[in-house]
Amino acid sequence: MNAAAILLAAGGGERLASGVPKGFVELDGRPLIVRSIDAARECLAIKVVLVMVPDGWESRASELIDDGVEVVTGGETRQRSVARALDVLEGRAGRVFEAVVCHDVARPRASSALFDGVLAALERADGAIPAVPVSDTLKRVEDDHVSETIPRDGLVAVQTPQAFRAAALRAAHASGDDATDDAALVEQAGGKVVVVQGDPSNLKVTTVADLALAERLLDTR
Ligand code: C5P
Repeated sequence: MNAAAILLAAGGGERLASGVPKGFVELDGRPLIVRSIDAARECLAIKVVLVMVPDGWESRASELIDDGVEVVTGGETRQRSVARALDVLEGRAGRVFEAVVCHDVARPRASSALFDGVLAALERADGAIPAVPVSDTLKRVEDDHVSETIPRDGLVAVQTPQAFRAAALRAAHASGDDATDDAALVEQAGGKVVVVQGDPSNLKVTTVADLALAERLLDTR
């Protein structure tokens, strides 16, 4: 299945307080966008890579990456950034992509094997997402008191990259309620989404401590 990758780097990343958007923060000397681009390009099914960056950061991104990758200005929300990327893909003359993979560059440890894994699982679904079991006990809290303990049987924590049949993702975004990931939109539209085994070390970098942990994990690989 021919695929396009949408790499999402248009968020601010204020909690890293690094003075640059999160995608431009370096992990062991390589910016997060570059790490995600390298993983996506190692995946043979991926023929086109779009990287969504904040308004004003397009030329800096182009300096960091080579010619095969398209830099596109993102939207105000993650969902709008994905929608813009889909418009760019749709507007292209020529190649039609059967699959689209959406990946948050905030997860710089996603391997090309994980990209391969979600794409392979599309054979049996409209969407495929990596997930890991939840090990903590989960509780709902109102103000400072616990209102409910949530049984964790069957609960998983979901990661990116997430792969979709292109037509299903487009239709889901067109009907688009607000959602925290693309899979939720496809689910709301009635699509079948399957889960593949995620990687516990594919952590999302949000804080300075996450960045330090991701760096330590590089040393232990
Ligand atoms: O804000 P959060 O960390 O959940 O964002 C997840 C991913 O979506 C990040 O990689 C971020 O750069 C990207 N994003 C985006 N466009 C936005 C907001 C977030 O591409 N407007």
